[in-house]
Formats: sequence, C-alpha cells, structure tokens
Amino acid sequence: MITPVQYILQDHFGRIVNNLRISVTDRCNFRCRYCMPEEGMVWLDRRELLTYEEITHLVHIFAELGITKIRLTGGEPLMRKELHILIEKINRVSGIQDIALTTNGYFLAEQALALVKAGLKRINVSMDSLAPEKFSVMTRRNYLHKVWEGLDAVEKLPIRPIKINVVLIRGINDNEIEDFARFARTKPFIIRFIEFMPIGADDGWSIEKVVPTREVIERIDATGKKLVPVEYHGSQPADRYKFEDGLGEIGFISSVSEPFCSSCNRVRITSDGKLRTCLFSLHETDLKALLRGGAGDEEIKEIIIQAVWAKEEGHLINRPGFVRPERTMSQIGG
Ligand code: 5AD
Ligand code: SF4
Repeated sequence: MITPVQYILQDHFGRIVNNLRISVTDRCNFRCRYCMPEEGMVWLDRRELLTYEEITHLVHIFAELGITKIRLTGGEPLMRKELHILIEKINRVSGIQDIALTTNGYFLAEQALALVKAGLKRINVSMDSLAPEKFSVMTRRNYLHKVWEGLDAVEKLPIRPIKINVVLIRGINDNEIEDFARFARTKPFIIRFIEFMPIGADDGWSIEKVVPTREVIERIDATGKKLVPVEYHGSQPADRYKFEDGLGEIGFISSVSEPFCSSCNRVRITSDGKLRTCLFSLHETDLKALLRGGAGDEEIKEIIIQAVWAKEEGHLINRPGFVRPERTMSQIGG
C-alpha cells in the first residue's frame, strides 16, 4: 500500500504547528474589559466573513498540511448561525482529530446538545467571576446566570474536559482565587487562570494588573489544599496542577510571566480569513483573497507553508520593542 505523503507544518525555529484556531465571527454580546472597549466596536460586514464552505475548504487544506486540532473562537462563536453545521463539516475532514470551542457561554444552554452531537470534543467557557456584580464589572454585562445555565447543560453531556477560563485582573477579581480553587474541587470543571495580556485597544493593561501564576499558586497553597503539577510545559500553554488529594484540577496560562512561545504549536485564522502566525502578529496573510480570487489548493498550501515558516519567535510583552497588534482580541480570535 502506498501511504500518502503527510506534510508537517514547521517554522524556522523547528516548532511543529498542528493546531489551528479559527475565529468564526468578530461579534460579541459581551464587552469583557480585557478584550474590547465598552462602546464603538465596528463589526465586519457579514460578506467579509468566511462562509462555512470556505472555512471547511481551508480546514481541508490545513489538514493535508498536518493540522490535526481545530478550535473555534470569536468574538462569540455561538453568535454565528447554526455553528453545529460547521462543526459537522469539520468533523468529516480526514485528519482532523479534535474540535474544540471557546465561548462566553451565553447561548450554550440552547445549543450544547447540537454542538456535541455534531462532534464537538472539548469546550472552554469564559467565566471571570462567581459573583454576579463582579462578573458584570469584568464583562460589562449581567449575564452570569446564562453562563451557569450553559455550564449546567454541558455538565450533563458527554463532553470532557470542560474548562473555565478566568482572566485575573488585580484589584477586580483577584480576591476570588480561593473561591475558584474550591469550586474546582466541587464540579467536573477545570479552572484555568489566565494572565491578563495587553491586546485590546482600550484594555487598561499595565503590568501591575497582571496576577502572576506563581502568586496564584502560593495563595491556593495557603488555603491548606496543596497543588501538585500534573505536567510541565509541553506544547500546551497551560501548566496543569491537581490538588494533592486528587480532587480537582487547576490550569495556568502564564503568557506574561512565563511565555510559552518556544513550544507554541498554533496559528490562527481571523473571521475575515487572514492567517496570523502569532496572537501578536503585526503581519497577516490574506487567505480569503486567495480563495475568492480562485487560487488553487496547491498555491494556497505553498503560501501557508511560507507564512508558517516565518512564524514569529515570540512576543515581547513587558519588554522594550513590544508593539500591540491593531486588532482587539475579539477581532483576532481569543
Ligand atoms: N488577556 C488574557 N486573555 C484574554 N482573552 C481575551 N482577551 C484577553 C486578554 N487581554 C481570553 C479570555 C477569554 C478568551 C476568549 O480569550 O480567556 O476567555
Ligand atoms: Fe466577547 Fe470573549 Fe471578548 Fe468577552 S472575551 S468580549 S466574551 S469575545
């Protein structure tokens, strides 16, 4: 039997890229303060968005280049109509082993079953506070009850892991670290504390507002329930910890205090079809223009291979020379 040639997407630092994040819309019904300004967001014209057919076409191309894992993001991905149809299509692409979703949870209760039936394997729900008033400060929307409904729905379905993303901002929600740690022990949810990064135009970022992972671990240890590492940095950004008694898991994304760029295995496509090889890229490759301009698959593959080869070494957050990307996180795809 002749085995088909399997490409590997690789950059010139030797990192292998097998992970593709696809933003399906820039729109969102939340206004998380670390992501976008309260007012004045201008959404893309719907014609600018990649269609489900175009996304699936790109997934085919990327799968042939060695991508095995897909994550759908936004904006809020569940604002895109019938997202389960896209998941079904991606699920049929040969070579794709894993489809995940990052969502704010608002529409999850009504859509969870359809998403899981369509082949969704893993889910991350953003929930920055367990307290309604604080949640409203973080997201500028008082929708915590909707997120709970969403979490209740996925908990009952055969989809694991369920991760909860918590972006910590000092002075706002850092007093809930211990509450979240306790919560992780009572529910089948993995809590992932994420360091606040400077991305959104108006995010009010400063280094003082970042709560470093080290500090979070110390505070959880001080509750008397000690954390022990499950694994060290692999290709996954989250450092995983379990409680000593085996009950409950906590993850950490230490993008500022301990960047994981040297093991980064991902690239992303914005909802308007631009390939970004880093969250902080200052340069994009317009895949939509190629698709709509009638470029052939081989030509598109060649351009992707070149772009990934030139993937940035890493970001320079909090170092001289750091330049913020012009887009907000919702426009890039979280
Ligand atoms: N810093 C850290 N994480 C962010 N996210 C969005 N903006 C930021 C930021 N400035 C992450 C959140 C959210 C996901 C969609 O993107 O974790 O859950
Ligand atoms: Fe919306 Fe997600 Fe940005 Fe919050 S972080 S405003 S939920 S896109």
